[in-house]
Amino acid sequence: MNNRDQTRPSSHEAGASLSLAPDRTPAWADLTRHAERKRSLSIQDCFDCDPTRAERYTLDCEQLIADFSKHLIDDQISQSLLDLAREMQLAAEIKAMFSGATVNPSEGRAALHTALRGQSEDGFDPDLLKAIQGQLNQVHQISDAVRDGTWLGVNGKPIRDVINLGIGGSDLGPKMATTALREFAHPDIKCHFVANVDGAEIESLLKQLDPDTTLVILASKSFTTRETLLNAETVIRWFSAHLNCDNPQASAHFIGITEQPEKAIAYGLDPERVLELWDWVGGRFSLWSPVGLAVVISIGFEAFRDLLNGARAMDNHYRSAPFEHNIPVQMALLGIWYSNFLGAETHAIVPYCERLHHLPGYLQQLEMESNGKSVNRHGEPVDYKTGTIVWGETGTNGQHSFFQLLHQGTHLVPVDFIGFREDRLSNARQHRTLLANMLAQGAALLSGFEDKTGASYRQQPGNRPSTTLLLPRLTPFYLGMLVALYEHKVHAQGIIWGINSFDQWGVQLGKLIADQLLTEGCEALTLDASTTALFRRLFG
Ligand code: F6P
Repeated sequence: MNNRDQTRPSSHEAGASLSLAPDRTPAWADLTRHAERKRSLSIQDCFDCDPTRAERYTLDCEQLIADFSKHLIDDQISQSLLDLAREMQLAAEIKAMFSGATVNPSEGRAALHTALRGQSEDGFDPDLLKAIQGQLNQVHQISDAVRDGTWLGVNGKPIRDVINLGIGGSDLGPKMATTALREFAHPDIKCHFVANVDGAEIESLLKQLDPDTTLVILASKSFTTRETLLNAETVIRWFSAHLNCDNPQASAHFIGITEQPEKAIAYGLDPERVLELWDWVGGRFSLWSPVGLAVVISIGFEAFRDLLNGARAMDNHYRSAPFEHNIPVQMALLGIWYSNFLGAETHAIVPYCERLHHLPGYLQQLEMESNGKSVNRHGEPVDYKTGTIVWGETGTNGQHSFFQLLHQGTHLVPVDFIGFREDRLSNARQHRTLLANMLAQGAALLSGFEDKTGASYRQQPGNRPSTTLLLPRLTPFYLGMLVALYEHKVHAQGIIWGINSFDQWGVQLGKLIADQLLTEGCEALTLDASTTALFRRLFG
Protein backbone atom coordinates (compact mmCIF):
# COMPACT_ATOMS: atom_id res chain seq x y z
CA MET A 1 0.00 0.00 0.00
CA ASN A 2 1.46 3.37 -0.86
CA ASN A 3 1.44 6.39 1.42
CA ARG A 4 -1.43 7.92 -0.47
CA ASP A 5 -3.65 4.92 0.18
CA GLN A 6 -2.84 4.96 3.90
CA THR A 7 -4.06 8.50 4.25
CA ARG A 8 -7.28 7.92 2.35
CA PRO A 9 -10.13 7.73 4.87
CA SER A 10 -11.79 4.34 4.94
CA SER A 11 -14.83 4.97 7.13
CA HIS A 12 -18.10 5.70 5.33
CA GLU A 13 -20.15 6.38 8.41
CA ALA A 14 -22.63 9.25 8.11
CA GLY A 15 -21.04 12.39 9.47
CA ALA A 16 -17.56 10.93 9.08
CA SER A 17 -16.47 13.80 6.86
CA LEU A 18 -16.92 16.19 9.78
CA SER A 19 -13.39 15.47 10.87
CA LEU A 20 -11.86 15.93 7.41
CA ALA A 21 -10.31 18.99 5.83
CA PRO A 22 -10.32 18.94 2.03
CA ASP A 23 -7.00 20.75 1.75
CA ARG A 24 -5.33 18.00 3.76
CA THR A 25 -6.45 15.17 1.50
CA PRO A 26 -4.14 13.47 -0.99
CA ALA A 27 -6.54 14.42 -3.78
CA TRP A 28 -6.17 18.12 -2.95
CA ALA A 29 -2.40 17.75 -3.25
CA ASP A 30 -2.86 15.99 -6.60
CA LEU A 31 -5.13 18.76 -7.84
CA THR A 32 -2.65 21.40 -6.71
CA ARG A 33 -0.04 19.64 -8.84
CA HIS A 34 -2.44 19.45 -11.80
CA ALA A 35 -3.12 23.17 -11.47
CA GLU A 36 0.59 23.89 -11.97
CA ARG A 37 0.07 23.00 -15.62
CA LYS A 38 -2.94 25.31 -16.01
CA ARG A 39 -1.16 27.47 -18.60
CA SER A 40 -0.74 24.49 -20.90
CA LEU A 41 -4.19 23.00 -20.38
CA SER A 42 -6.02 23.28 -23.68
CA ILE A 43 -9.59 22.15 -24.16
CA GLN A 44 -9.06 22.01 -27.91
CA ASP A 45 -6.00 19.76 -27.47
CA CYS A 46 -8.09 17.45 -25.33
CA PHE A 47 -10.64 17.20 -28.16
CA ASP A 48 -7.88 16.66 -30.71
CA CYS A 49 -6.34 13.84 -28.70
CA ASP A 50 -9.62 12.11 -28.03
CA PRO A 51 -12.30 11.91 -30.74
CA THR A 52 -14.69 10.41 -28.17
CA ARG A 53 -14.35 13.30 -25.68
CA ALA A 54 -17.67 15.00 -26.49
CA GLU A 55 -19.45 11.71 -25.91
CA ARG A 56 -17.39 10.55 -22.93
CA TYR A 57 -17.82 13.82 -21.08
CA THR A 58 -21.57 13.99 -21.65
CA LEU A 59 -23.87 12.56 -18.99
CA ASP A 60 -27.60 12.08 -19.02
CA CYS A 61 -30.47 11.48 -16.66
CA GLU A 62 -34.09 11.15 -17.82
CA GLN A 63 -33.30 13.04 -21.05
CA LEU A 64 -31.50 15.85 -19.24
CA ILE A 65 -28.15 16.00 -21.01
CA ALA A 66 -25.09 17.58 -19.37
CA ASP A 67 -22.15 18.20 -21.71
CA PHE A 68 -18.99 18.67 -19.62
CA SER A 69 -16.57 18.24 -22.50
CA LYS A 70 -15.82 21.98 -22.86
CA HIS A 71 -13.94 22.15 -19.57
CA LEU A 72 -10.33 22.62 -18.59
CA ILE A 73 -10.00 19.05 -17.42
CA ASP A 74 -8.45 15.86 -18.69
CA ASP A 75 -8.90 12.32 -17.42
CA GLN A 76 -6.26 12.72 -14.72
CA ILE A 77 -7.82 15.87 -13.31
CA SER A 78 -11.21 14.29 -13.50
CA GLN A 79 -9.92 11.30 -11.56
CA SER A 80 -8.37 13.47 -8.85
CA LEU A 81 -11.64 15.39 -8.48
CA LEU A 82 -13.46 12.08 -8.02
CA ASP A 83 -10.85 11.08 -5.46
CA LEU A 84 -11.54 14.32 -3.59
CA ALA A 85 -15.27 13.53 -3.44
CA ARG A 86 -14.50 10.06 -2.11
CA GLU A 87 -11.91 11.25 0.39
CA MET A 88 -14.42 13.78 1.73
CA GLN A 89 -16.89 10.91 2.26
CA LEU A 90 -19.47 12.42 -0.04
CA ALA A 91 -21.36 9.13 -0.47
CA ALA A 92 -21.85 8.74 3.28
CA GLU A 93 -22.94 12.37 3.58
CA ILE A 94 -25.52 12.02 0.80
CA LYS A 95 -26.92 9.03 2.69
CA ALA A 96 -26.91 11.04 5.90
CA MET A 97 -28.91 13.89 4.35
CA PHE A 98 -31.53 11.56 2.86
CA SER A 99 -31.81 9.58 6.10
CA GLY A 100 -32.78 12.65 8.11
CA ALA A 101 -29.55 12.90 10.12
CA THR A 102 -28.76 16.25 11.76
CA VAL A 103 -26.79 17.66 8.85
CA ASN A 104 -27.30 21.24 10.02
CA PRO A 105 -25.34 21.14 13.30
CA SER A 106 -25.48 24.87 14.15
CA GLU A 107 -29.28 24.75 14.20
CA GLY A 108 -29.56 21.09 15.28
CA ARG A 109 -31.70 20.21 12.28
CA ALA A 110 -32.06 17.73 9.45
CA ALA A 111 -32.41 18.94 5.86
CA LEU A 112 -35.16 16.77 4.46
CA HIS A 113 -36.52 18.80 1.55
CA THR A 114 -36.00 15.65 -0.53
CA ALA A 115 -38.72 13.91 1.52
CA LEU A 116 -41.21 16.52 0.27
CA ARG A 117 -40.92 14.91 -3.16
CA GLY A 118 -40.30 11.39 -1.85
CA GLN A 119 -42.36 8.25 -2.28
CA SER A 120 -42.73 5.13 -0.18
CA GLU A 121 -40.03 3.17 -2.03
CA ASP A 122 -37.45 5.89 -1.38
CA GLY A 123 -36.71 4.81 2.19
CA PHE A 124 -38.12 7.84 4.05
CA ASP A 125 -39.89 7.32 7.38
CA PRO A 126 -43.47 6.24 6.47
CA ASP A 127 -44.97 8.48 9.19
CA LEU A 128 -43.12 11.43 7.76
CA LEU A 129 -44.38 10.66 4.26
CA LYS A 130 -47.91 10.36 5.66
CA ALA A 131 -47.65 13.79 7.26
CA ILE A 132 -46.27 15.26 4.04
CA GLN A 133 -49.12 13.68 2.08
CA GLY A 134 -51.61 15.25 4.50
CA GLN A 135 -50.06 18.63 3.85
CA LEU A 136 -50.08 18.08 0.09
CA ASN A 137 -53.78 17.25 0.36
CA GLN A 138 -54.41 20.61 2.04
CA VAL A 139 -52.46 22.41 -0.69
CA HIS A 140 -54.38 20.42 -3.30
CA GLN A 141 -57.78 21.36 -1.83
CA ILE A 142 -56.94 25.05 -1.49
CA SER A 143 -55.49 25.31 -4.97
CA ASP A 144 -58.42 23.46 -6.56
CA ALA A 145 -60.90 25.73 -4.80
CA VAL A 146 -59.08 28.88 -5.93
CA ARG A 147 -58.70 27.57 -9.47
CA ASP A 148 -62.29 26.40 -9.89
CA GLY A 149 -63.73 29.61 -8.44
CA THR A 150 -65.22 28.14 -5.26
CA TRP A 151 -62.77 29.93 -2.92
CA LEU A 152 -64.74 33.12 -2.36
CA GLY A 153 -63.78 36.50 -0.94
CA VAL A 154 -65.85 38.24 1.73
CA ASN A 155 -68.21 39.63 -0.90
CA GLY A 156 -68.76 36.25 -2.54
CA LYS A 157 -66.49 36.78 -5.54
CA PRO A 158 -63.96 34.23 -6.88
CA ILE A 159 -60.21 34.91 -6.82
CA ARG A 160 -58.54 36.48 -9.86
CA ASP A 161 -55.23 37.70 -8.37
CA VAL A 162 -52.90 36.08 -5.88
CA ILE A 163 -50.21 38.11 -4.09
CA ASN A 164 -47.37 36.12 -2.56
CA LEU A 165 -45.84 38.20 0.23
CA GLY A 166 -42.50 36.73 1.29
CA ILE A 167 -38.80 37.28 0.76
CA GLY A 168 -35.72 35.13 0.14
CA GLY A 169 -36.75 31.50 0.10
CA SER A 170 -40.38 32.50 0.66
CA ASP A 171 -40.35 34.42 -2.62
CA LEU A 172 -37.58 33.40 -5.02
CA GLY A 173 -38.62 29.78 -5.58
CA PRO A 174 -42.35 30.31 -6.18
CA LYS A 175 -41.66 33.43 -8.26
CA MET A 176 -39.05 31.68 -10.40
CA ALA A 177 -41.22 28.57 -10.92
CA THR A 178 -44.49 30.42 -11.58
CA THR A 179 -42.74 32.57 -14.17
CA ALA A 180 -40.95 29.60 -15.73
CA LEU A 181 -44.15 27.57 -16.02
CA ARG A 182 -46.28 30.30 -17.63
CA GLU A 183 -47.20 27.87 -20.41
CA PHE A 184 -49.21 25.85 -17.87
CA ALA A 185 -50.80 28.76 -15.99
CA HIS A 186 -54.49 29.13 -15.21
CA PRO A 187 -55.86 31.53 -17.83
CA ASP A 188 -57.84 33.73 -15.42
CA ILE A 189 -55.69 33.85 -12.29
CA LYS A 190 -52.59 35.99 -12.06
CA CYS A 191 -49.89 35.49 -9.43
CA HIS A 192 -47.88 38.47 -8.19
CA PHE A 193 -44.81 38.42 -5.95
CA VAL A 194 -43.83 41.22 -3.64
CA ALA A 195 -40.72 40.79 -1.52
CA ASN A 196 -38.92 44.10 -1.11
CA VAL A 197 -39.80 46.39 1.79
CA ASP A 198 -39.67 49.17 -0.83
CA GLY A 199 -43.28 50.27 -0.49
CA ALA A 200 -43.45 51.48 -4.08
CA GLU A 201 -43.78 47.84 -5.16
CA ILE A 202 -46.77 46.87 -3.09
CA GLU A 203 -48.46 50.28 -3.46
CA SER A 204 -48.24 50.16 -7.27
CA LEU A 205 -49.49 46.60 -7.42
CA LEU A 206 -52.47 47.30 -5.18
CA LYS A 207 -53.57 50.11 -7.48
CA GLN A 208 -54.09 47.53 -10.22
CA LEU A 209 -56.01 44.98 -8.16
CA ASP A 210 -59.55 44.50 -6.94
CA PRO A 211 -59.63 43.58 -3.23
CA ASP A 212 -62.83 41.57 -3.73
CA THR A 213 -60.99 39.11 -5.97
CA THR A 214 -57.51 39.15 -4.40
CA LEU A 215 -55.98 36.41 -2.27
CA VAL A 216 -52.83 37.01 -0.20
CA ILE A 217 -50.36 34.28 0.64
CA LEU A 218 -48.35 35.42 3.63
CA ALA A 219 -45.25 33.24 3.45
CA SER A 220 -42.65 33.51 6.17
CA LYS A 221 -40.96 30.55 7.80
CA SER A 222 -40.09 32.59 10.90
CA PHE A 223 -43.13 34.90 10.71
CA THR A 224 -40.88 37.69 11.98
CA THR A 225 -39.39 38.99 8.74
CA ARG A 226 -39.82 42.74 8.74
CA GLU A 227 -40.17 43.14 4.97
CA THR A 228 -42.98 40.61 4.74
CA LEU A 229 -44.86 41.88 7.76
CA LEU A 230 -44.66 45.51 6.65
CA ASN A 231 -45.95 44.62 3.19
CA ALA A 232 -48.70 42.62 4.91
CA GLU A 233 -49.70 45.65 6.99
CA THR A 234 -50.03 47.76 3.85
CA VAL A 235 -52.19 45.10 2.24
CA ILE A 236 -54.31 44.74 5.37
CA ARG A 237 -54.94 48.52 5.38
CA TRP A 238 -55.92 48.32 1.70
CA PHE A 239 -58.39 45.52 2.33
CA SER A 240 -59.82 47.28 5.40
CA ALA A 241 -60.37 50.50 3.48
CA HIS A 242 -61.95 48.88 0.44
CA LEU A 243 -63.87 45.99 1.93
CA ASN A 244 -64.99 47.82 5.00
CA CYS A 245 -63.92 45.04 7.32
CA ASP A 246 -61.81 45.23 10.47
CA ASN A 247 -59.65 42.15 10.38
CA PRO A 248 -59.24 41.18 6.76
CA GLN A 249 -56.32 38.93 7.69
CA ALA A 250 -58.84 36.64 9.42
CA SER A 251 -60.86 36.33 6.22
CA ALA A 252 -60.60 34.02 3.23
CA HIS A 253 -58.44 36.67 1.55
CA PHE A 254 -55.43 35.52 3.61
CA ILE A 255 -53.52 32.25 3.81
CA GLY A 256 -50.45 31.93 6.04
CA ILE A 257 -47.50 29.62 5.46
CA THR A 258 -45.06 29.37 8.34
CA GLU A 259 -43.11 27.22 10.73
CA GLN A 260 -44.55 29.39 13.53
CA PRO A 261 -48.34 28.91 13.26
CA GLU A 262 -48.94 30.39 16.71
CA LYS A 263 -47.40 33.67 15.53
CA ALA A 264 -49.58 33.67 12.40
CA ILE A 265 -52.66 33.03 14.52
CA ALA A 266 -51.68 35.79 16.97
CA TYR A 267 -51.36 38.04 13.90
CA GLY A 268 -55.04 37.35 13.28
CA LEU A 269 -55.01 34.65 10.62
CA ASP A 270 -57.64 31.94 10.81
CA PRO A 271 -55.94 28.72 12.08
CA GLU A 272 -57.80 26.82 9.34
CA ARG A 273 -55.92 28.87 6.79
CA VAL A 274 -52.42 28.51 8.20
CA LEU A 275 -50.24 25.88 6.55
CA GLU A 276 -47.31 24.66 8.58
CA LEU A 277 -43.69 24.31 7.54
CA TRP A 278 -41.37 21.87 9.24
CA ASP A 279 -38.10 23.10 10.72
CA TRP A 280 -36.16 20.69 8.48
CA VAL A 281 -37.27 22.59 5.36
CA GLY A 282 -34.73 25.36 4.82
CA GLY A 283 -36.13 28.57 3.31
CA ARG A 284 -34.10 28.24 0.11
CA PHE A 285 -35.17 24.59 -0.22
CA SER A 286 -38.85 25.26 0.40
CA LEU A 287 -40.28 25.48 -3.13
CA TRP A 288 -41.54 21.89 -2.70
CA SER A 289 -43.41 22.69 0.53
CA PRO A 290 -46.59 24.80 1.02
CA VAL A 291 -44.33 27.75 0.11
CA GLY A 292 -44.98 26.54 -3.45
CA LEU A 293 -48.73 27.29 -3.06
CA ALA A 294 -48.69 30.15 -5.58
CA VAL A 295 -47.14 27.78 -8.12
CA VAL A 296 -49.83 25.17 -7.43
CA ILE A 297 -52.58 27.75 -7.80
CA SER A 298 -51.06 28.83 -11.07
CA ILE A 299 -50.35 25.46 -12.72
CA GLY A 300 -52.66 23.10 -10.82
CA PHE A 301 -51.87 20.25 -8.47
CA GLU A 302 -51.17 17.58 -11.09
CA ALA A 303 -48.56 19.76 -12.74
CA PHE A 304 -47.04 20.53 -9.31
CA ARG A 305 -46.85 16.78 -8.72
CA ASP A 306 -44.83 16.58 -11.95
CA LEU A 307 -42.48 19.25 -10.57
CA LEU A 308 -42.00 17.12 -7.45
CA ASN A 309 -41.49 14.02 -9.60
CA GLY A 310 -38.83 15.75 -11.65
CA ALA A 311 -36.97 16.74 -8.49
CA ARG A 312 -37.35 13.19 -7.21
CA ALA A 313 -35.84 11.80 -10.42
CA MET A 314 -32.78 13.97 -9.79
CA ASP A 315 -32.73 12.92 -6.11
CA ASN A 316 -32.58 9.28 -7.16
CA HIS A 317 -29.84 10.03 -9.66
CA TYR A 318 -27.81 11.91 -7.00
CA ARG A 319 -28.12 9.11 -4.45
CA SER A 320 -27.49 6.22 -6.80
CA ALA A 321 -25.40 7.18 -9.85
CA PRO A 322 -21.67 6.47 -9.51
CA PHE A 323 -19.85 9.76 -9.06
CA GLU A 324 -18.27 9.55 -12.51
CA HIS A 325 -21.78 9.54 -14.02
CA ASN A 326 -23.39 11.76 -11.41
CA ILE A 327 -24.40 15.13 -12.88
CA PRO A 328 -24.67 17.19 -9.65
CA VAL A 329 -21.44 15.68 -8.33
CA GLN A 330 -19.62 16.52 -11.56
CA MET A 331 -20.95 20.08 -11.49
CA ALA A 332 -19.84 20.42 -7.87
CA LEU A 333 -16.35 19.10 -8.63
CA LEU A 334 -15.88 21.36 -11.64
CA GLY A 335 -16.86 24.36 -9.54
CA ILE A 336 -14.28 23.40 -6.93
CA TRP A 337 -11.61 22.88 -9.61
CA TYR A 338 -12.14 26.36 -11.02
CA SER A 339 -12.55 28.16 -7.73
CA ASN A 340 -9.97 26.45 -5.52
CA PHE A 341 -7.33 25.56 -8.09
CA LEU A 342 -7.66 27.76 -11.18
CA GLY A 343 -8.60 31.03 -9.45
CA ALA A 344 -12.10 31.61 -10.85
CA GLU A 345 -14.00 34.11 -8.72
CA THR A 346 -17.48 33.80 -10.20
CA HIS A 347 -19.76 31.51 -12.18
CA ALA A 348 -22.31 32.62 -14.79
CA ILE A 349 -25.70 31.01 -15.35
CA VAL A 350 -27.19 31.72 -18.77
CA PRO A 351 -30.55 30.10 -19.52
CA TYR A 352 -31.60 30.39 -23.16
CA CYS A 353 -35.24 30.83 -22.25
CA GLU A 354 -36.67 34.18 -21.18
CA ARG A 355 -39.12 32.47 -18.83
CA LEU A 356 -36.12 31.46 -16.72
CA HIS A 357 -35.06 35.04 -16.10
CA HIS A 358 -35.52 34.60 -12.35
CA LEU A 359 -33.32 31.49 -12.27
CA PRO A 360 -29.98 33.29 -11.71
CA GLY A 361 -31.48 35.21 -8.76
CA TYR A 362 -32.95 32.02 -7.34
CA LEU A 363 -29.60 30.27 -7.63
CA GLN A 364 -27.83 33.19 -5.97
CA GLN A 365 -29.69 32.51 -2.76
CA LEU A 366 -29.32 28.75 -3.13
CA GLU A 367 -25.57 28.85 -3.74
CA MET A 368 -24.43 31.93 -1.84
CA GLU A 369 -26.58 31.65 1.29
CA SER A 370 -25.76 27.94 1.49
CA ASN A 371 -22.03 27.95 0.87
CA GLY A 372 -20.88 31.47 1.73
CA LYS A 373 -19.24 30.27 4.95
CA SER A 374 -15.78 30.66 6.42
CA VAL A 375 -15.84 28.14 9.24
CA ASN A 376 -16.16 24.39 8.88
CA ARG A 377 -18.76 22.25 10.58
CA HIS A 378 -16.59 22.16 13.72
CA GLY A 379 -16.66 25.95 13.82
CA GLU A 380 -12.98 26.20 12.85
CA PRO A 381 -11.88 28.76 10.25
CA VAL A 382 -11.17 27.37 6.80
CA ASP A 383 -8.20 28.60 4.81
CA TYR A 384 -9.44 27.79 1.33
CA LYS A 385 -12.15 29.44 -0.73
CA THR A 386 -15.75 28.30 -0.26
CA GLY A 387 -18.96 29.32 -2.01
CA THR A 388 -19.57 30.41 -5.55
CA ILE A 389 -20.45 33.93 -6.63
CA VAL A 390 -23.27 33.17 -9.03
CA TRP A 391 -24.67 35.66 -11.47
CA GLY A 392 -26.27 35.63 -14.88
CA GLU A 393 -28.94 36.65 -17.30
CA THR A 394 -30.88 34.98 -20.04
CA GLY A 395 -29.42 34.45 -23.49
CA THR A 396 -29.52 36.08 -25.92
CA ASN A 397 -29.85 39.25 -23.78
CA GLY A 398 -26.59 38.61 -21.93
CA GLN A 399 -24.75 38.38 -25.25
CA HIS A 400 -25.39 42.08 -25.72
CA SER A 401 -24.17 43.07 -22.27
CA PHE A 402 -21.61 41.01 -20.34
CA PHE A 403 -20.46 38.45 -22.91
CA GLN A 404 -17.73 40.82 -24.09
CA LEU A 405 -16.00 40.25 -20.74
CA LEU A 406 -16.50 36.49 -21.02
CA HIS A 407 -14.86 36.39 -24.44
CA GLN A 408 -12.04 38.91 -24.10
CA GLY A 409 -11.86 39.94 -20.45
CA THR A 410 -9.17 38.92 -17.98
CA HIS A 411 -11.40 36.86 -15.66
CA LEU A 412 -11.94 33.14 -15.84
CA VAL A 413 -15.72 32.71 -15.68
CA PRO A 414 -17.13 29.21 -16.19
CA VAL A 415 -20.60 29.38 -17.73
CA ASP A 416 -23.65 27.12 -17.47
CA PHE A 417 -25.71 27.29 -20.66
CA ILE A 418 -29.25 25.93 -20.25
CA GLY A 419 -31.41 25.20 -23.29
CA PHE A 420 -34.62 23.38 -24.18
CA ARG A 421 -34.94 21.37 -27.37
CA GLU A 422 -38.57 22.36 -27.89
CA ASP A 423 -40.63 25.40 -26.93
CA ARG A 424 -44.31 25.34 -27.76
CA LEU A 425 -44.75 28.99 -26.84
CA SER A 426 -42.18 30.07 -29.43
CA ASN A 427 -42.08 29.55 -33.19
CA ALA A 428 -39.74 27.24 -35.07
CA ARG A 429 -37.58 29.94 -36.61
CA GLN A 430 -37.00 31.92 -33.44
CA HIS A 431 -36.42 28.86 -31.30
CA ARG A 432 -33.82 27.57 -33.75
CA THR A 433 -32.13 30.96 -33.68
CA LEU A 434 -32.15 31.00 -29.88
CA LEU A 435 -30.52 27.57 -29.65
CA ALA A 436 -28.02 28.34 -32.41
CA ASN A 437 -26.93 31.37 -30.39
CA MET A 438 -26.43 29.24 -27.30
CA LEU A 439 -24.25 26.77 -29.22
CA ALA A 440 -22.36 29.61 -30.88
CA GLN A 441 -21.42 31.16 -27.54
CA GLY A 442 -20.10 27.88 -26.13
CA ALA A 443 -18.14 27.27 -29.35
CA ALA A 444 -16.71 30.80 -29.42
CA LEU A 445 -15.65 30.63 -25.77
CA LEU A 446 -13.86 27.39 -26.52
CA SER A 447 -12.26 28.07 -29.91
CA GLY A 448 -11.59 31.80 -29.65
CA PHE A 449 -10.49 33.70 -32.73
CA GLU A 450 -7.11 34.47 -34.19
CA ASP A 451 -7.20 37.57 -36.34
CA LYS A 452 -4.78 37.19 -39.24
CA THR A 453 -4.19 40.94 -39.52
CA GLY A 454 -2.71 40.80 -36.04
CA ALA A 455 -5.08 43.41 -34.56
CA SER A 456 -4.84 42.54 -30.87
CA TYR A 457 -8.25 43.99 -30.03
CA ARG A 458 -9.82 41.46 -32.37
CA GLN A 459 -8.13 38.41 -30.90
CA GLN A 460 -10.19 36.10 -28.73
CA PRO A 461 -8.08 33.76 -26.67
CA GLY A 462 -10.68 31.01 -26.33
CA ASN A 463 -10.03 28.00 -24.06
CA ARG A 464 -12.84 29.31 -21.83
CA PRO A 465 -14.98 26.67 -20.15
CA SER A 466 -18.70 26.03 -20.21
CA THR A 467 -21.26 23.36 -19.37
CA THR A 468 -24.26 22.88 -21.63
CA LEU A 469 -27.42 21.52 -20.04
CA LEU A 470 -30.04 20.42 -22.56
CA LEU A 471 -33.56 19.48 -21.56
CA PRO A 472 -36.48 18.41 -23.74
CA ARG A 473 -38.93 21.18 -22.76
CA LEU A 474 -39.57 23.64 -19.95
CA THR A 475 -42.21 21.50 -18.26
CA PRO A 476 -42.84 21.14 -14.52
CA PHE A 477 -40.97 17.81 -14.55
CA TYR A 478 -37.82 19.19 -16.15
CA LEU A 479 -37.88 22.35 -14.05
CA GLY A 480 -38.03 20.11 -10.96
CA MET A 481 -35.02 18.17 -12.23
CA LEU A 482 -33.08 21.33 -12.98
CA VAL A 483 -33.66 22.92 -9.58
CA ALA A 484 -32.87 19.70 -7.70
CA LEU A 485 -29.70 19.39 -9.79
CA TYR A 486 -28.44 22.72 -8.44
CA GLU A 487 -29.61 21.88 -4.91
CA HIS A 488 -27.48 18.75 -4.97
CA LYS A 489 -24.53 20.49 -6.59
CA VAL A 490 -24.60 22.93 -3.67
CA HIS A 491 -24.87 20.09 -1.16
CA ALA A 492 -21.96 18.18 -2.69
CA GLN A 493 -19.77 21.30 -2.66
CA GLY A 494 -20.68 22.05 0.95
CA ILE A 495 -19.65 18.53 1.97
CA ILE A 496 -16.36 18.73 0.09
CA TRP A 497 -15.59 22.14 1.58
CA GLY A 498 -16.51 20.72 5.00
CA ILE A 499 -19.01 23.50 5.73
CA ASN A 500 -22.64 23.61 6.85
CA SER A 501 -24.73 24.48 3.76
CA PHE A 502 -27.96 24.68 5.72
CA ASP A 503 -27.56 27.65 8.07
CA GLN A 504 -27.26 31.41 7.35
CA TRP A 505 -26.07 33.17 10.50
CA GLY A 506 -24.38 35.88 8.44
CA VAL A 507 -27.69 37.53 7.59
CA GLN A 508 -28.58 38.30 11.22
CA LEU A 509 -26.34 41.27 12.05
CA GLY A 510 -27.62 43.57 9.31
CA LYS A 511 -31.22 42.81 10.29
CA LEU A 512 -30.44 43.58 13.93
CA ILE A 513 -28.76 46.91 13.16
CA ALA A 514 -31.66 47.96 10.89
CA ASP A 515 -34.11 47.13 13.67
CA GLN A 516 -32.06 49.07 16.23
CA LEU A 517 -31.74 52.08 13.93
CA LEU A 518 -35.48 52.11 13.45
CA THR A 519 -36.35 51.70 17.10
CA GLU A 520 -33.54 53.49 18.93
CA GLY A 521 -31.98 55.77 16.32
CA CYS A 522 -28.23 56.01 16.01
CA GLU A 523 -27.55 57.78 19.32
CA ALA A 524 -28.01 54.66 21.41
CA LEU A 525 -25.79 52.57 19.11
CA THR A 526 -22.04 52.54 18.82
CA LEU A 527 -21.91 52.69 15.05
CA ASP A 528 -19.08 53.81 12.81
CA ALA A 529 -18.80 57.53 12.00
CA SER A 530 -19.79 57.05 8.35
CA THR A 531 -23.07 55.29 9.13
CA THR A 532 -23.86 57.77 11.90
CA ALA A 533 -23.34 60.72 9.55
CA LEU A 534 -25.44 59.09 6.80
CA PHE A 535 -28.21 58.34 9.30
CA ARG A 536 -28.28 62.00 10.36
CA ARG A 537 -28.40 63.15 6.74
CA LEU A 538 -31.37 60.89 6.09
CA PHE A 539 -33.33 61.13 9.29
CA GLY A 540 -32.08 64.34 10.89
O1 F6P B 1 -32.48 36.73 5.43
C1 F6P B 1 -32.33 35.39 5.19
C2 F6P B 1 -33.57 34.58 5.35
O2 F6P B 1 -33.63 34.08 6.64
C3 F6P B 1 -33.60 33.48 4.32
O3 F6P B 1 -32.85 32.39 4.70
C4 F6P B 1 -35.06 33.21 4.21
O4 F6P B 1 -35.38 32.50 3.06
C5 F6P B 1 -35.60 34.63 4.22
O5 F6P B 1 -34.76 35.32 5.13
C6 F6P B 1 -37.03 34.78 4.59
O6 F6P B 1 -37.28 34.27 5.86
P1 F6P B 1 -38.74 33.93 6.34
O7 F6P B 1 -39.31 32.90 5.43
O8 F6P B 1 -38.56 33.42 7.75
O9 F6P B 1 -39.54 35.19 6.31
